[in-house]
Amino acid sequence: MTIHKTRLAVFCSGNGSNFKSIFRAIAEKPLNAEIVLCVSNRSQCGAMEFASQNGIATLHITEKQFGAFDDFAAAMVACLKNAQIDIVLLAGYMRKVPDAVVAAFADKMLNIHPALLPKFGGEGMYGMFVHSAVLEAGETESGATVHFVNEEYDKGKILLQRRVPVLPGDTPESLAARVLECEHTLYPDALEKLLAMQNT
Ligand code: GRF
Repeated sequence: MTIHKTRLAVFCSGNGSNFKSIFRAIAEKPLNAEIVLCVSNRSQCGAMEFASQNGIATLHITEKQFGAFDDFAAAMVACLKNAQIDIVLLAGYMRKVPDAVVAAFADKMLNIHPALLPKFGGEGMYGMFVHSAVLEAGETESGATVHFVNEEYDKGKILLQRRVPVLPGDTPESLAARVLECEHTLYPDALEKLLAMQNT
């Protein structure tokens, strides 16, 4: 009997370290899923290169390629549907996902955020801005959050969260590195949890 593997699209804009950790975890855990598409607003980035090297289809799609935003959104939905995507994972995707795409993947789209939401989230809270804000607030711990995506930045239901300490002398960079290491196990664990939820 062939068991259908859950088909994943991973959206990235940068290094793609989360993309790589999810890819490896699928083989190691193992998970009954496969990354079949890497979507990016950048034609060249770590994630897109890694995808190409590993035989994963890539899709470079940006608003600028279309005359109207609605056409961009419709094309994105069509590409995901054509690829028979079951679940979308945002992993360092630096653009807001069009509402039409979010609606098409309600409860089937996750994002990872490098802080303990609902703190330190929302528009403008990304990258080093997050870690600087955590340090400026004098927090003794930070962490990472995997949450469902809805129409508002970082506001969807939390699926899984993990804490890391803030250490004396931390800089935004040192804290970012500790949080990113945590993300690399958190996102695969969150995916595993979502897959289990979908099988019940
Ligand atoms: C991660 O810190 C993630 O939480 C944030 O963007 C970063 C992406 O890093 N959304 P990478 O591209 O996966 O290395």
